[in-house]
Amino acid sequence: MILPKHFSHRSPPSKLIFGEGAIDRLAGELEELGIKRPVLVAGTRTAAARVFARTLAALSGLAIAQQTGMPEHSPIEHVRQLRDLARSHGADGFVAIGGGSASDACKAAALWMAEGGELEQHGSRFVPPDQFHAPPVPAPKLPIIAIPTTLSGAEVTGGGSVRTPDGRKIVLVDPKLCARLVVIDPTASLEVPAPIFLASGMNGLAHCIEGYYSRVRTPITSALALEAMRMFMEALPAVARDPGSAQARSQALVAAHLGGQVLVNARSGIHHATCHCLGAAAGVSHGDANSIMLPHAMEFNRADPAAQADLAECAAALGARESSADAAIERVRWLQHEIGVPTRLRDRGVPRAVLAQVAAGVMAEKGLYFNPRRVAGAQDVLPMLEAAW
Ligand SMILES: [Fe+2]
Repeated sequence: MILPKHFSHRSPPSKLIFGEGAIDRLAGELEELGIKRPVLVAGTRTAAARVFARTLAALSGLAIAQQTGMPEHSPIEHVRQLRDLARSHGADGFVAIGGGSASDACKAAALWMAEGGELEQHGSRFVPPDQFHAPPVPAPKLPIIAIPTTLSGAEVTGGGSVRTPDGRKIVLVDPKLCARLVVIDPTASLEVPAPIFLASGMNGLAHCIEGYYSRVRTPITSALALEAMRMFMEALPAVARDPGSAQARSQALVAAHLGGQVLVNARSGIHHATCHCLGAAAGVSHGDANSIMLPHAMEFNRADPAAQADLAECAAALGARESSADAAIERVRWLQHEIGVPTRLRDRGVPRAVLAQVAAGVMAEKGLYFNPRRVAGAQDVLPMLEAAW
């Protein structure tokens, strides 16, 4: 590992509690945080699962409001409803149960409540080729509790995105939005269907790989990324073989948490930029987009000599016998097949005609700022999308 010339590293101010039955201890944890009037947020599937009922039961002594039915990609109109509900309830905290969309909605609502105005004015912006603007968002935010059931790592980060009606993503970043308490209960994810869980694992793995060759990585994120890669390569095939294994699911959830710690600092690159645009322009879920694009993004970055060397360093953690970028990429392709995630955009209903629009969209994504290989224009991105199609 080559030490970066300069780095700064932020550790999120969160407490993690792990173990079967961790959810049942929530009341004491919320008391410690001084939360008496939380808003519970979940998607439709999670709201019907036992994890939601258990959370409600654990917090039965508190004045709870709830917003269920949060769709994927946290649409802005749902975030607006959540903000208004939190205001009218006099909420003093949020509990996000489920995947990244629940977490991101809570972050966006907490930020919007605190900063006022229109949400869009608080979004960060990337101006190609290398300018990144994040407007100051200094107001204190309500605390967020996260109970993750997928492997997005969104429970760790202080950033999230919200989708606008015209298919754009507003990206919000504020370290004050990092979950104050993260509850990883191995039994909480058992009702998440294996294909969704595993696809979200490709997202978690992508955080580690993109983080490892990121321009803003730190020695700490690099160490976390390698360990999380090892854990994912073991846990994801184990979940695919036995979706009812709480042990395999917990190992994947802990790996995802490490990956989230990587993401907080090392951010993400062209792979995530592309996944965001595929979600916004073609409605591909974040997990599926990650599953398909990851080896292609690694190949894209292999053209950069420094990234190629970094990928070679990842090979062993990915289970390869040989230390080369090619071997690392090969292992990710092996994983795709081993766990049965999608591998082609066309199989997820992406029309070929939309690829040029996606490539153009990628050029406005901040991920390009953190990506190792410089990207001159959409013409650089299109061949990668064609290959993934
Ligand atoms: Fe992600």
